[in-house]
Amino acid sequence: MGRLFIPRAAPLALSHTKLFTFRTTTAAARATTTTYASSKGSPRRSVSRPLPDSLVRRTRSTREFNEEEIEHFLSNGTHVPVLLGEVLDVFDRRGRPLRSFVDCTMGAAGHSSSIIRAHPELEIFIGLDIDPVAYKMANVQLDLILNNVEAERKDRALQRYTYLRNFRDIRSIVRQVDANISSDGVDGILMDLGMSSMQVNNAERGFSVLNDGPLDMRMNPLASLKAEDILNSWPEAEVGRILREYGEESNWRKIQTKIMKARTGGGLHSTNELLNLVRSACGGPAGRQGWMKTATRVFQALRIAVNDELNSLRDALFAAFDCLAHGGRLAVISFHSLEDRIVKQTFLDIINREEGGSPVKKKNDCEEEWCKQKIDGKFGTILTKRPITPSTDEEKLNRRCRGAKLRVLQKVPQE
Ligand SMILES: C[S@@+](CC[C@H](N)C(=O)[O-])C[C@H]1O[C@@H](n2cnc3c(N)ncnc32)[C@H](O)[C@@H]1O
Repeated sequence: MGRLFIPRAAPLALSHTKLFTFRTTTAAARATTTTYASSKGSPRRSVSRPLPDSLVRRTRSTREFNEEEIEHFLSNGTHVPVLLGEVLDVFDRRGRPLRSFVDCTMGAAGHSSSIIRAHPELEIFIGLDIDPVAYKMANVQLDLILNNVEAERKDRALQRYTYLRNFRDIRSIVRQVDANISSDGVDGILMDLGMSSMQVNNAERGFSVLNDGPLDMRMNPLASLKAEDILNSWPEAEVGRILREYGEESNWRKIQTKIMKARTGGGLHSTNELLNLVRSACGGPAGRQGWMKTATRVFQALRIAVNDELNSLRDALFAAFDCLAHGGRLAVISFHSLEDRIVKQTFLDIINREEGGSPVKKKNDCEEEWCKQKIDGKFGTILTKRPITPSTDEEKLNRRCRGAKLRVLQKVPQE
């Protein structure tokens, strides 16, 4: 209590004067169709119905799932990298070596380690993470991998640079690493959004609806804003906007009123207090569409606001594209519909943008198996007109991959 409200994130670009419909994939074969209507910004959720089988099949990865690729992560209890085989395929290109690579979200370095192992030609690896715990864990993992890799290839050392930084700073980080790759560009960039298992499983971080902990939710523990600051001191309308826009929560008004009421009793300070508040606002069973689902949306909304996630993502996508070499690829894995919509729209904006850079006419060619439908633009090609989603086998082994969507953008090759 007693903290000043400082507006930090511009409202998400959702128009409340127009009527529009979108889908959120909530489980393997389900979707919720949400309709926003009216200029008052009051979302109305229509009936939930399963996603047609044909649509599910169109986005599902057709790559044969290789359990061995993730066995090691499953057995040692660290974060299990999502869509690992699919990501490896994106950067495994005939006739085009991967000499430089940036992992914007190292986490436990699952994707990074596998990329390094799969690409003996890799010369420069840059890894980022905003979370000091993940940063440390990733570096331990990279030490192990690099010791083995170096022993195997004595002829050429891999230069590795890791930074405890926000991925929205990727431009200046790449510049700082090497003037040459800053001007020529990097061959591959990966962003695996969302939270790692280490973050979700640590109750003290306040990310999980399942474990009681402080209302923190900061990816960067040095940042000043926590979830409890928003709940206990931000203006009522701002709290409502966050629930509505970042949580896509139809019951937002009732929850907002309860949050305001809680302030008179000393405010909310633990995730269990927030959970109880949501339960009392919703009533009914906890099940898939019950109050637990609402609680998940409320937690998502707060996390997005605390970490300014959507603005950070949009900025980072433009910056990452600028850092790519001609013909280089940017792969992004998102975990909820707000993120995915930003990735999808920003990719379209990027390939057709007017300002800066000169268009190269040459079309991109992608004959790889996973690349089904493309969208060509002046500056690049979207190689995944529809996103790639995990196979049923991956979903069976790793529940956390549900809802993941992989989108890939390739910069136009040099003439
Ligand atoms: C899903 S995990 C990545 C897991 C990783 N790919 C692996 O295989 O172990 C996402 C990571 O991104 C980090 N992160 C989230 N937002 C970030 C940002 N804006 N800048 C840098 N890292 C960020 C989180 O701290 C977390 O460690």
